[in-house]
Amino acid sequence: MGRVIAVISLKGGVGKTTLTAGLGEFMAGEFGKKILLVDLDAQTNLTTMMIGQERWLALNEKGWTVASLFGDALDGTDQFDPETAVQVDVSPVRSVSGVDLLPSSLDLIELQEELSARRVRVDDHAAAIDILGTALRPLRDRYDLILVDCPPNVGPFSLNGLAAADGYLIPTIPDVLSTYAIPHIQTQVADFAGEIAHPIVELGVVITKFRASSRLHQETVRRLRRDPSIQNVLPGYLHEGNAIGAAAEFRPYTSLRQKYGSHGHFDQFRQLAREVLWEADAKLA
Ligand SMILES: Nc1ncnc2c1ncn2[C@@H]1O[C@H](COP(=O)(O)OP(=O)(O)OP(=O)(O)O)[C@@H](O)[C@H]1O
Ligand SMILES: [Mg+2]
Repeated sequence: MGRVIAVISLKGGVGKTTLTAGLGEFMAGEFGKKILLVDLDAQTNLTTMMIGQERWLALNEKGWTVASLFGDALDGTDQFDPETAVQVDVSPVRSVSGVDLLPSSLDLIELQEELSARRVRVDDHAAAIDILGTALRPLRDRYDLILVDCPPNVGPFSLNGLAAADGYLIPTIPDVLSTYAIPHIQTQVADFAGEIAHPIVELGVVITKFRASSRLHQETVRRLRRDPSIQNVLPGYLHEGNAIGAAAEFRPYTSLRQKYGSHGHFDQFRQLAREVLWEADAKLA
């Protein structure tokens, strides 16, 4: 059964979405895994990276996004059908097959408050956070891994991602403000896992946007590695580079090397994908 990994941080812009997309593409393209990407962020960045604005708009109009899933739970409607919502083989890289996507929607913004209110009502407590997990359950057998890109908060959508997850990754830029967010997310996840009585394993901190020439970045990575409250800092880093930023653009690519550039990023991403697969095998039941 496919394991579920949430990619989460309370800090915005640390590369969660870029990491989720790249891990999915490298796990499928280089390691032959079958991957489902789930976009839980109303910004829809992962969705538009993978399928572009136009296709997303068409799906959104038909209600084939996670917004329908949460809308159904709130309204008692029956609009969401994973067979139509899950987009198959979405990577814009021609040589990559095996990456599917459950798209997001701007409509999540409106649903957020209602879902939070629902969670506060004692009788609906569990139901409001298990919406995604319930929807993913019948799909899990089809995938080796399901990667869930969370918004930069622990609102109701992130909680759904965490409740569905077996483990989580914490991407961070190795700078002062980004790393402040690490203990906060660890505490929130640990408390939440206790609350729902379901283990959510910390798979590791992933260093993103690393600048080898920055003394601050080097020192911060050393500090994180020594920090006893951090289980694991993955050995591979994703360096900052124009090619990675540019890879967010939706357009056809012939290969992962073309998409992610030739300045070491291909190897960094490949290495990270291998490490996360290893962590998942070693640590997730
Ligand atoms: N290694 C990198 N090198 C250069 N640019 C990067 C790198 N990783 C991410 N970026 C760029 O940084 C910006 C933020 O990245 P991304 O959207 O992945 O972060 P995020 O944590 O998902 O943000 P949010 O909190 O808004 O969801 C984007 O413009 C992205 O293209
Ligand atoms: Mg994001």
